[in-house]
Amino acid sequence: MGESEKSTSEPLLYVDGEYLPISKARVSPLDQGFLLGDGIFDVVSAWKGKIFKLEEHLDRFFDSIRAARLETRLSKNDWIEVILETVRRNKLPDASIRFILTRGVPDGVVADPRKITPTEIVWVAPYVFLADEQKRIEGIRLMISATRGFTPDTLDPRFKCLDRLNSQLIRLEALEAGYDDALWLDSHGYVSEAAASNIFLVKKGALYTPQTGILMGITRGTVMECASRAGVECIESPLTSFDLYSADEVFTCSTAGGVLPVKEIAGRKIPQPVPGPITSKVDKLYWEMRDAGEYCTII
Ligand SMILES: Cc1ncc(COP(=O)(O)O)c(C=O)c1O
Repeated sequence: MGESEKSTSEPLLYVDGEYLPISKARVSPLDQGFLLGDGIFDVVSAWKGKIFKLEEHLDRFFDSIRAARLETRLSKNDWIEVILETVRRNKLPDASIRFILTRGVPDGVVADPRKITPTEIVWVAPYVFLADEQKRIEGIRLMISATRGFTPDTLDPRFKCLDRLNSQLIRLEALEAGYDDALWLDSHGYVSEAAASNIFLVKKGALYTPQTGILMGITRGTVMECASRAGVECIESPLTSFDLYSADEVFTCSTAGGVLPVKEIAGRKIPQPVPGPITSKVDKLYWEMRDAGEYCTII
């Protein structure tokens, strides 16, 4: 897709078999996704006309669907086709692509969740970075929220589900307190993840990241691969806020912009220049991987 083909018209969504302009697309107010947060979604990004790790995102989507006992009428290949077609119709070479499956519309107030037809949606928007350019260079200020994340014995954080109230609460808490983002701890005080990204720290030349109680971020996996290519050891381990306070480098990562350096955590400044050398190296390798078209699906 070339520059000249970029979209200027109204965005199109895929909803239950139809491609519709956003002003005409409708989901019922009785949809369980809306009423209960009863649904699964995933977000993948396109950059310079190439979608990164689409199959991995779909694997995660299908794992969550199965775990949530949802049904989709579309096979994995059908989802790929529909996603590609929606991106093509929107003519966005750099895009944030959200695909959503909800339980659907019940036939009564107390409906049997096994007997509802699901709602399937693909929404393509211009690519967004989680932080503006200055913060991507200088680093963000991260707080540690008083809100604890879900644990695997409640709502396993590996569900990429529509119920995101906890993420919104910690984001609001962070913004109200003048921070850029917040992370939460699990119920035992171990570091989990930020509102919409995973977290890494660097200590004495090695990378550390939590292993459990988190969404298995696709970018997290990519960061680990970049670290391995750079010869940097990466250790999945329980971490506490003390580990973050005393780290040499800290960064978050997500589909919305890859690696994002952190310059301050809960009032403790990172003592060395931000971004640090390992953060910069991993970030560079991440974008090189994408530019080279590795793990990419051409739109
Ligand atoms: C809670 C949470 N953790 C981590 C991530 C990062 O996941 P990914 O790298 O797959 O975008 C997200 C992304 O939205 C998220 O919501």
